[in-house]
Amino acid sequence: TRQSRIRNFSIIAHIDHGKSTLADRILEATQALTQREMKAQMLDAMDLERERGITIKLNAVELNYTAPSGETYIFHLIDTPGHVDFSYEVSRSLAACEGALLVVDAAQGVEAQTLANVYLALENNLEIISIINKIDLPNADPDRVKQEIEDVIGLDASDAVLASAKTGIGTNEILEQIIEKIPAPSGDPNAPLQALIFDSLYDAYRGVVVYIRVVEGTVHVGDQIKMMANGKTFEVLEVGVATPKIESREELSVGDVGFLTASIKSVHDTQVGDTVTHAERPADKPLPGYRKMNPMVYCGLYPIDTARYDDLREALGRLELNDSALQYEPETSEALGFGFRCGFLGLLHMDIVQERLEREFNIDLIATAPSVIYNVKLTDGSSVRVGNPSEMPERKFIAEVEEPYVKATIMTPNDYVGSIMELCQRKRGEFKTMEYLDANRTNVIYDLPLSEIMYDFFDILKSSTKGYASLDYEMDGYRVSDLLKMDILLNGEKVDALSVIVHQEFAYDRGKAIVEKLKELIPRQQFEVPIQAAIGQKIISRSTIKALRKNVLAKCYGGDVSRKRKLLEKQKEGKKRMKAVGSVEVPQEAFMAVFRMS
Ligand code: GTP
Repeated sequence: TRQSRIRNFSIIAHIDHGKSTLADRILEATQALTQREMKAQMLDAMDLERERGITIKLNAVELNYTAPSGETYIFHLIDTPGHVDFSYEVSRSLAACEGALLVVDAAQGVEAQTLANVYLALENNLEIISIINKIDLPNADPDRVKQEIEDVIGLDASDAVLASAKTGIGTNEILEQIIEKIPAPSGDPNAPLQALIFDSLYDAYRGVVVYIRVVEGTVHVGDQIKMMANGKTFEVLEVGVATPKIESREELSVGDVGFLTASIKSVHDTQVGDTVTHAERPADKPLPGYRKMNPMVYCGLYPIDTARYDDLREALGRLELNDSALQYEPETSEALGFGFRCGFLGLLHMDIVQERLEREFNIDLIATAPSVIYNVKLTDGSSVRVGNPSEMPERKFIAEVEEPYVKATIMTPNDYVGSIMELCQRKRGEFKTMEYLDANRTNVIYDLPLSEIMYDFFDILKSSTKGYASLDYEMDGYRVSDLLKMDILLNGEKVDALSVIVHQEFAYDRGKAIVEKLKELIPRQQFEVPIQAAIGQKIISRSTIKALRKNVLAKCYGGDVSRKRKLLEKQKEGKKRMKAVGSVEVPQEAFMAVFRMS
């Protein structure tokens, strides 16, 4: 039967170990367009994704592979995003598979994301095919890596494929193992429909395109379907698959991976992890594992040109159509005027949204320092969630403040354990345990405040270990912390957009660092500008930006006009990313500096 010839799988790997390159080889072997050809044809689609070399959106392709035996198989290759910000999406796309190709770089060996991805695959009961890639590299050491897969991951690596996705070595063996080892999907085509949503995207012509894996039953064009998370119903207009060219079908049945459209207006109705069923004959329960994705990081976004507030609102609305994890609501700042408080899955997600707003919608933005969400218990027994430091209630009303923690697993060569522990300690980490993985490597496990690892943790980790350590983390609940709001005053006025939450222990040092940094970043003005850091009414640090001595134009008084114009133009350019806060011009970097220093 058709069902017995289906193989559904993903490729999992640490970043740069060769996932995309191997996918290209598989696409070629099945005579589909390669990813690179595909990308060339969809030039305008996802510029950013390509430039960053990170897979953001999941995708799935259907491939026909004729085995040497003459039998033709139907492969569904499901792509997974590679960054921790999107780990829930990774887990759902793996849930749509029966198997995973584990790609490990023959020179780098097993890294933190390799392990994290394997755990997700094992949680989803996937059959794992080990592939040691890049064996063409002069420093490849496949025997060592094989041993690592056994010792560190605990998988049998005796029949790991030695491959080079670059030259094509091993591709045939990989295809054979896919057929032999990955089970065909089970399930009953006549059962009530259960289809897992593992991705969705908004298309201007079709509405929301929902990517599904049919687990039970069959869905046809014309069916009335229901989203089990919110009960909304829609009529199916189109079902199909990408080969990678879009092909319409009459139906998708058990084991199929493809898309459907149903005049759905918002991706918020098609949450990743939700189950699609029939409105008439619904499944009695949804597929397991559905979780609403909640933003972890917030920041304020303000147009530099206040006249563009409405454009920003519209742009956010457009992005939201395609990004169910993005949240935003209007916010007013005394310093920055009208803008939006936006919620993101993590810093990468935040960067991507900001960049798209500036690039695709041409809106120059001031972004305030990102903040995690604090749970604040008040003395009257109520509690509030605070994602904007300037909204932190006054100290006298606060009973306690809780902040989000992560459990961080850092995989490192033994030599760097000391410097990693020092780093974690400095970031308020609490040592949990250490696992000796093999003769050379250790997993160092710490509980760390999310706010501390948000900004430069990863960079410092990389630079202090020559790039050898790798990091993975997962959310680990909230904990009470001794946190304070620190305000920044410019020219005697509190600038709400510069407020930060700091740990009591670091308040003085950080206050001082921030004040010094701001002094450096804020250009001289016509008058003297005092900068102060305050906790409550108490000033804990201060500095002063001296006044500009001369008017730049004074020099050309009576001089030639073109020189004057040039100077004015230069000044204007310098102002590009500035925002007038009260009477003081503040550059974008100043807002981020607060974050970097805190
Ligand atoms: P992300 O999308 O960032 O997660 O990376 P990826 O895992 O998809 O890696 P990608 O396929 O982009 O490969 C990363 C780099 O390794 C590229 O420069 C590839 O050309 C190179 N590469 C991939 N496979 C091989 C191989 O077998 N041999 C050699 N020498 N280089 C390879």
